Amino acid sequence: MYRKPVFLLFVSFILSALSACQNTAPNTNQTAVNTNQNQTASKEIPNRKWWKEAVVYQIYPRSFKDTNGDGIGDLKGITEKLDYIKSLGIDAVWLNPIFSSPNDDMGYDVSDYRNIMKEFGTMEDFDVMLKGFHERGIKVVLDLVANHSSDEHFWFQEAKKSRDNPYRDYYHWWNEEDGKPPKRVSFFDPEGDGWQYEPNTKSYYLHYFSDKQPDLNWENPKLREEMYSMMKFWFDKGVDGFRMDVIHFISKDKPFREIPAEFNGDFGKFYGSGPKLHDYIQEMNREVLSKYDVMTLGEAGATKEDAHKFVDEERRELNMIYHYEGVNLGYLPDSKKIIDPKGWKLSDFKDIYTKWDTNFAEKGWNTVYLGNHDQPRMVTRWGNDSPEFREVSSKMLTTFLLTQRATPYYYFGDELGMNNIKFDKIEDYKDIESINWYKQIKAEGGDLTQFLESQKIAARDNGRTPFQWNATANAGFSTGTPWLKVNPNYEKLNAEAQEKDENSVLNYFRKLVKFRKENPILIYGKYTLLDRENEDVYSYTRELDGKKFLVLLNFKPKESEAKTGLDLSKAKVLMSNYADAAASEKLKPYQAVILEITN
Ligand code: NOJ
Ligand code: CA
Repeated sequence: MYRKPVFLLFVSFILSALSACQNTAPNTNQTAVNTNQNQTASKEIPNRKWWKEAVVYQIYPRSFKDTNGDGIGDLKGITEKLDYIKSLGIDAVWLNPIFSSPNDDMGYDVSDYRNIMKEFGTMEDFDVMLKGFHERGIKVVLDLVANHSSDEHFWFQEAKKSRDNPYRDYYHWWNEEDGKPPKRVSFFDPEGDGWQYEPNTKSYYLHYFSDKQPDLNWENPKLREEMYSMMKFWFDKGVDGFRMDVIHFISKDKPFREIPAEFNGDFGKFYGSGPKLHDYIQEMNREVLSKYDVMTLGEAGATKEDAHKFVDEERRELNMIYHYEGVNLGYLPDSKKIIDPKGWKLSDFKDIYTKWDTNFAEKGWNTVYLGNHDQPRMVTRWGNDSPEFREVSSKMLTTFLLTQRATPYYYFGDELGMNNIKFDKIEDYKDIESINWYKQIKAEGGDLTQFLESQKIAARDNGRTPFQWNATANAGFSTGTPWLKVNPNYEKLNAEAQEKDENSVLNYFRKLVKFRKENPILIYGKYTLLDRENEDVYSYTRELDGKKFLVLLNFKPKESEAKTGLDLSKAKVLMSNYADAAASEKLKPYQAVILEITN
């Protein structure tokens, strides 16, 4: 499904390309846009799919818009803002979990897969919201948490009643009389222990995340059948896809063994992805996915070789996965996201994104993201959130995301350039990850000051603060007390203010989304990294049907120079985050330029 090419009409922005700006302060009052392209239908693109061409906008419903004053965003809030979402030009939304949940891990602990979380509203609210999205031509992707349920789910409540309960086998157990279970790691347990003792049945149950998130037993065909039938329930309602939470963990290495010494405690390599993982996903595809025109995105943290097992078409599994290599750059190895004092190198950043592009150049399809609900705000982490550079570096990062050969997953609020709130004290955090790590470091007598400083950059709650709609109380998010503090900069940084400013971060995002859709070269065109050793500028070309675009991204708060070896004498500036952009390798601080090379 590929939309017809159109002539672009942005003529109101005139480039003053020759007026070289001497000073290094960003002059971003106008965005250079020259999109007068006549994009002819491509001959070279095989295997087009709507989800390859889509820009996906991720919404964290809890923080989007509250309509009943309880301080928690809700589905009615999303419905209220449908026109705003439509105005972004995006094609699909991914909503973080909206199913019933006690919220030990903010919805990633589901207590009823066929109902809506009571704080978020009702099934009727869901139906209204879904219809509203579809009327606007926007697809809706939900979050499927299939590796674990909540301990408050009916299945678990039954399973722990007795060892012969019909639901017992929906989970993984280790009987007390068999001794201590072999070590398994939990991400959210204060002691890091993946087994929790259950006194009623004198046994331990497995939980890779918190002890309120028991892992489901996919070995059990009845459990798999329940999952497939639940997925059909949502697809029959019209849902357009699933993002699948930690889907690589669903198969376990039964019977549980001690980690052999050669794995050096590396659970990911030893038991992370169990032997039946791909059998289950293929079965899920046969039973459910193949029967609908839907998209699937696996959170699979795979190596580049493993990634193909999930997404190569002939394997009939998923459409896309996402990796963590990019977002993990810059932390000390095996640490609780402690910032590496040496920082991160742009050449490493380039290598990671180039490696993943190459990995899918022939087969499969790539994804790209810098922000999501598990990440801090992209401008703080990868750009520069000082007042001088926040806007311009946000735009530069948006340019990166929307010019990669990959489906971009764009996180709500990043289109405003929202930045980290940087809490000073642990009491402000609501996220189980930050709270548990704090407890662990405290118990070990570790460096809590260093941890809290790192959390200002790295904590997930930075990306979860309420959306900044306007300058009224609580940023217009809620009339009550927001569940998580609002970033105090909302009086200046908010959507309403940016609507009025033609050159805002918000309007730059809109222009770039439109520009990407009108230029399939940015979606499908071949990617080539240039000037790899340059630690200031990231440069790459995109090529399709004899056309060539060059993207130059200055990642530094200073004037920098690219050395691409290309002749830019006849190059044309198509887009930039500076008004006076020239077809030059000399870039202003955080400048982004998209050029067309014509020789
Ligand atoms: C990955 C999700 O993205 C994260 O938010 C969650 O805490 C874990 N999976 C557990 O479900
Ligand atoms: Ca609410």
